[in-house]
Amino acid sequence: MIRPRWSALITSVALAATALVTTSIGTSSAAPVGYESEAAAISQGVVESNHAGFTGSGFVNFDNVVGSSVEYTVNAPTAGSYALTFRYANGTTANRPLDVTVNGSLALDDLAFPGTGAWTTYRTVTANATLVAGTNKIKTTAVTSNGGPNADSLSVDTVQGPGPGGTPVAINGQLRVCGTKLCNQYGKPIQLRGMSTHGIQWYANCVKTASLDALATDWKADILRISMYVASSEGGYETNPRKFTDMVHGYIEEATKRGMYALVDWHQLDPGDPNVYTAKAKTFFSEIAERHKDKKNIIYDIANEPNNVSWGAIKSYAEQLIPVIRAKDSDGVVFVGTHGWASLGVSDSRSEADIINNPINATNFMYTFHFYAASHHDEYFAALSRAADKIPLFVTEFGTQDYRGEGANDFAYSQKYLDFLASKKIGWTNWNFSDDHRSGAVFKEGTCAGSSFTGTSMLKPAGVWVRDRIRTPDDFPTS
Ligand code: GCU
Repeated sequence: MIRPRWSALITSVALAATALVTTSIGTSSAAPVGYESEAAAISQGVVESNHAGFTGSGFVNFDNVVGSSVEYTVNAPTAGSYALTFRYANGTTANRPLDVTVNGSLALDDLAFPGTGAWTTYRTVTANATLVAGTNKIKTTAVTSNGGPNADSLSVDTVQGPGPGGTPVAINGQLRVCGTKLCNQYGKPIQLRGMSTHGIQWYANCVKTASLDALATDWKADILRISMYVASSEGGYETNPRKFTDMVHGYIEEATKRGMYALVDWHQLDPGDPNVYTAKAKTFFSEIAERHKDKKNIIYDIANEPNNVSWGAIKSYAEQLIPVIRAKDSDGVVFVGTHGWASLGVSDSRSEADIINNPINATNFMYTFHFYAASHHDEYFAALSRAADKIPLFVTEFGTQDYRGEGANDFAYSQKYLDFLASKKIGWTNWNFSDDHRSGAVFKEGTCAGSSFTGTSMLKPAGVWVRDRIRTPDDFPTS
């Protein structure tokens, strides 16, 4: 059985509310290059310095007018995809979107600049755009009568990453489900491999600049699953929706800077019926999708491990949530957890037949499967094998240990699963990227207090094993 793994076991875990450092250096060897707004070409805006916290000598107030603009002249060493990080403040509660053009062509439509809480609170928004080699004109233009946010700076970071051809997102672009596979922008099936965070309410200190740099460049991960628990009894979203939504926004930006896919995990677990949270899930995903709809790397996981609930009830929940996401982000892929703690029903003495006979009425989505290899042997493997050619699947969690993420590693059975997933190009994210004391947390206890995450010296055996299996070269066809 896949059971709730943490609720009774968390008392010793320190609450880690560490703010993510968003002004990080990305994955490239070259440092990002910063451009101050006050030095850019400004139309219908003014340079001011009355709200502390800016870099350089001030910021640009766009004034409250449609069409005011700031144009940065940016030099790119080579043609390709670059992460554009805008630092800004918006002391109102209304989004102040900007259109971003590169050399006269619209690159980012209505890029969102939501309220930051105060004019002295500066935040960053990152999106990728293609630049030509040499000089580029990057122009941001206000599209509402509120004008833009106060624009502090633009930082441009190369999104080059592991291996030739760039990062996973640079190569594969916007994904979509094609048949039972996940396909890249060239319509070719791909397998994504990466890590899931532990609960961000407990292990935020494991998801920071140094650890994410290691995940992107040393582990060569394609995807980061951002695991946000929901229930207040688990210290999740319900306790502070604003805080947790903002944390997820931050992690999405960090994954984006590093060219990884960002899998936003609504980690409902207890209670097991996702319908308990339908209204909250709609609020959360609506904001996430609105903010990040221009990005190509967002995937939405709307139900982590439904349990003690029928397949029909999960289907009904999914058919309510998917249209809410699509109304904001028309091409975002959605994942839906299956019954019995994402076991295709097996842990509830059911099977994948429930799903195949009564599929979700939607497009561009996948069902999820979880396994813990020391607990879930032939019965689970058989269900996965039968389902793999019939329905689109993604493994959003697995462990080499028992269903609690604890105990001895069963690497042999884990390898049997991974070989099968590779043969079917079914993607996966491993549980979990933290230094929790259990054997399934990849880092040794205490690692996350430090800043050293590369290599294997701070990894537990499961970490060494899974890092090796994420690092192997990707097969991302481009033609
Ligand atoms: C205030 C604030 C300015 C800001 C302006 C706005 O006047 O002090 O810095 O630009 O609001 O609404 O844009």
